[in-house]
Amino acid sequence: MSPQFAIIGGGVMGEVLSRAVIASGLFAPEAVLVLDHNANKLRKLQQEIGISVTTSLAEVATSPIILLAVKPDNAAKVLQELNQSPLAPDLLCISIMAGIPLDFMAHFFPPQTALIRVMTNTPCQVQAGMSVLALNPHVTVTQTALTERIFGAVGECMVLPEKYLDAVTGLSGSGPGFVFLIVDALIEGGVLQGLPRATARQLVLQTLIGSAKLMQQTDRHPAQLRDMVTSPGGTTIAGIQVMEEYKIRATLLKTVETATRRSAQLGEQNAARINREGSAHGE
Ligand SMILES: NC(=O)c1ccc[n+]([C@@H]2O[C@H](COP(=O)([O-])OP(=O)(O)OC[C@H]3O[C@@H](n4cnc5c(N)ncnc54)[C@H](OP(=O)(O)O)[C@@H]3O)[C@@H](O)[C@H]2O)c1
Repeated sequence: MSPQFAIIGGGVMGEVLSRAVIASGLFAPEAVLVLDHNANKLRKLQQEIGISVTTSLAEVATSPIILLAVKPDNAAKVLQELNQSPLAPDLLCISIMAGIPLDFMAHFFPPQTALIRVMTNTPCQVQAGMSVLALNPHVTVTQTALTERIFGAVGECMVLPEKYLDAVTGLSGSGPGFVFLIVDALIEGGVLQGLPRATARQLVLQTLIGSAKLMQQTDRHPAQLRDMVTSPGGTTIAGIQVMEEYKIRATLLKTVETATRRSAQLGEQNAARINREGSAHGE
């Protein structure tokens, strides 16, 4: 069977996505082709999930769907190699590389190539990711639906205009890191009050999961849910007083603002570096 879905980069995300599209029944194992320069990694993936593997870019280039899953630092090399390969005429290229804009990618492909840029996040590893898709004008409705199914296999996904992707990176892309820091601090809070660490961890995790589910399932505004647990003169309002005093809201607003700005900065740096490292299609 010729590959239907080729993944360049068999690292964390390449593995997660190849496993997910097979487990969800979207592609047969033989229809998924993963390229990596690490033969041991490929052998392990091939044995465990039955996918096709290769170390040659020429083999993936003719696939109708190519997913770019290398680090942005390796983008230049991969994009240039694709630029010099014969590609499928109706190619859909999906990139999950952070900070590589669609316009910039387009320089490496024939005109009219369908390109999708995705900002996903770490919880993909447990099928609870949040992926945001930005499309160029050549992407068809069918290609959009298929990409939604690919990322739907690792969590939730939505389509947004590309102008939002830095903010998405600063919020849901970096968000797991912010949440892990807050969770860590809450666990320490429990430990400070004498709870065994494992107990504190379980209490915090279930509180987090429960609160998220309550918000999702009731669709109520977080302020409304907070009011419901904040009884007059009680413990929650006493804690909230401290959070307000130490400006947690302002801190979190600034956190997302700074991460968003950093995403834009890194995007500019990536584009400048890739430009320096080589010429693009037709140049
Ligand atoms: N991990 C996440 O949670 C996450 C979340 C959101 C977005 N992303 C994005 O997803 C992309 C992949 O991240 P990752 O965490 O999966 O990275 P990763 O684990 O480093 O995987 C990338 C793989 O590609 C291989 N590779 C690099 N250059 C190659 C080349 N020219 N030809 C063939 N294989 C090559 C790497 O091999 P070597 O290690 O030997 O170089 C590695 O096995 C990144 O661009 C990142 O921005 C990741």
